Amino acid sequence: MTDKSNNWQRETDAEGIVWLTIDQAGASANTLGRELMEELNDILGELEAQRPKGLVIQSAKANFIVGADIREFTHVKTPDQARELIRRGQAVVNRLEGLRCPTVVLINGFCLGGGLELALGCDYRVADDADSTRLGLPEVRLGIHPGFGGAARLPRLVGATAAMDMMLTGRSLSARAAKKIGLVDHAVPQRHLQRAARELIRTRPKIKQASGLAALGNHALVRPLLARVLRKKITAKAHPEHYPAPYALIDLWRKHGTDKLAVLRAEELSVARLVTGDTARNLVRVFFLQERLKSQGDKKAFTPQHIHVIGGGVMGGDIAAWCALRGLQVTVQDRNDGHLAQVVKRAAKLYKKKLKKPRLVQQALDRLMPDKQGQGLAQADVVIEAIFEDIEAKQNLYREIEPHMKEGALLATNTSSIPLQVLGEVLSDPNRLVGLHFFNPVAQMQLVEIVTTPDTHPDAAKKAAAFTRHIDRLPLPVNSSPGFLVNRVLMPYLLEAVTLEAEGLAPKVIDAEALKFGMPMGPILLADTVGLDICLSVAEILSKELGVEVPSRLRELVKAGRLGKKSGHGFYRYDKQGKPLGTKAGRGEYCPPDTQDRLIARLLNEALACLREGVVSDANLLDAGIIFGTGFAPFRGGPLHYIEQAGRDKLAKKMDDLYKNYGERFPVDESWLTSERRSE
Ligand code: NAI
Repeated sequence: MTDKSNNWQRETDAEGIVWLTIDQAGASANTLGRELMEELNDILGELEAQRPKGLVIQSAKANFIVGADIREFTHVKTPDQARELIRRGQAVVNRLEGLRCPTVVLINGFCLGGGLELALGCDYRVADDADSTRLGLPEVRLGIHPGFGGAARLPRLVGATAAMDMMLTGRSLSARAAKKIGLVDHAVPQRHLQRAARELIRTRPKIKQASGLAALGNHALVRPLLARVLRKKITAKAHPEHYPAPYALIDLWRKHGTDKLAVLRAEELSVARLVTGDTARNLVRVFFLQERLKSQGDKKAFTPQHIHVIGGGVMGGDIAAWCALRGLQVTVQDRNDGHLAQVVKRAAKLYKKKLKKPRLVQQALDRLMPDKQGQGLAQADVVIEAIFEDIEAKQNLYREIEPHMKEGALLATNTSSIPLQVLGEVLSDPNRLVGLHFFNPVAQMQLVEIVTTPDTHPDAAKKAAAFTRHIDRLPLPVNSSPGFLVNRVLMPYLLEAVTLEAEGLAPKVIDAEALKFGMPMGPILLADTVGLDICLSVAEILSKELGVEVPSRLRELVKAGRLGKKSGHGFYRYDKQGKPLGTKAGRGEYCPPDTQDRLIARLLNEALACLREGVVSDANLLDAGIIFGTGFAPFRGGPLHYIEQAGRDKLAKKMDDLYKNYGERFPVDESWLTSERRSE
């Protein structure tokens, strides 16, 4: 017998087992939305009366359930509406758990958030042992924590330490790792999933629960101690005022442990409060900004196979390595053998970390070919130039390579400051050139600026954005203007930090002020990490084109060979492992009260100027670029969003005061004074 609703298909086999298959209508992945849950609720009601021999839940798609339907979050306006939604979700999972027949869930692909909470309501879990299987509760990344009973069921099942680690970090586990901690009963190849389910229903083994040491963490006497340790760990990473969710989760668990009813009630109240708070709203906003960036590139528009990178230095080498990691065939050209050897060495390190399995590491290395003579050029679909930041060197290279490039191949430069118009002068078809501006370190920075001029062939821009998506990076279209978007907005903030240091503030004090605002890394440490020589060269360009003042302190340090982390000494000193020394600010250090304002104001002012000048096409893309290109405090939703939330008038007044006190470094952008509101 087969029965079908919009999202579920139900079939009862000859043994009397009900097979319930999720296949969300009109979607490529299953998400746990209202309709899907309501239909499940109805089906469970019928099964209560039917009393089948067993129930198996599975997915017809490549993933089980990828999480909640985040779009629905944005419709929740009040804590009461949120509580209602949570109560309904909890009721469905409770109903599943309460069925009087054995229940099994078969997990393939992503089983995340509400999807995993649903799976926790079943008696048994069996996961496909493929590499693509991932189980996790990533809610903290959206500023909330599990609300459909996950906080009650997971610690009871796998013990407090493993459960809290999953919920506080949002990290997901492979099938094998999930089996190890007891989250799934079996991890088997896909072809054995259904057989494993039948076997469990037939034999009905004892339902798993944490035991021994794993269970001890949940004990009422141990919880306060463990909670303190967890809090300390979180405090090192996230401030409670910026990211309240992990703290709320620890408190809830410390108070109620595995008392399911109490935890469910506490989850309801806590998630309802969090989801309607600023942090969650802004993190949800960041989620959609990321989706928006993804939508800037259409993978189907262009499917490159072979990438040729010229210049195997810091950037070119890492771009080449990243492309090969993402499955593309790559040749990397450099005239220096030593640099090419370094490229392969760094790539091997990256692949070991990311791919782990020696076979996969070897395959990725096989895709990355050092190519001193540039033989890959003629076959390449994308040619990326990443040689020295020197106009003449780049132009000479273009003259040489253009005649040898394949018809329709994309020519891209990673320049951080030279206008495309200037570089393109030597090309027979200058409008084929685009900028693909990656950030350092390539493997960590998700954003790539797609730089174009008004004359760039639209096809070239499209191909550049498509290529960026193929290598799983986020494309941001920007105009070829000085510093593009990210460096232009970031640099005044970094330079203000250098000025503050020159005025006598300790680097750690300046960095602490930025961390208090919510930046992931202070500006002084960031400048040291980027390299003070690189900062200086970008600053010089901005100074020439836009009149930005370059502090003499920066020139002095570069002249003295203090280049930052790479030379072992910049503003900070570095140990042999490259760890900065003396970064922790103590109490009572000299710090004028307007320090944080000075740093942030310059960044905000430049962001407004970029929007006004049309460096990017709208405010949301600007916010997205600054968050993913600089790490700007994500819980604040981006610089322009922050201006609206903190109060444009209030900040404009501060800007005015700073101008009066410090002069031209704080040129109040005209758009502070207009009533123009940002587009949503
Ligand atoms: P780098 O100095 O580390 O590497 C340049 C490499 O190009 C060297 O290995 C050199 O041997 C090679 N090279 C120079 N001329 C060549 C030629 N004609 N043929 C073949 N190889 C040649 O420089 P880096 O830092 O990697 O910068 C490269 C480009 O990326 C520059 O345009 C820079 O502005 C840009 N960029 C740099 C960032 C950074 O943080 N370092 C960030 C974003 C962009």
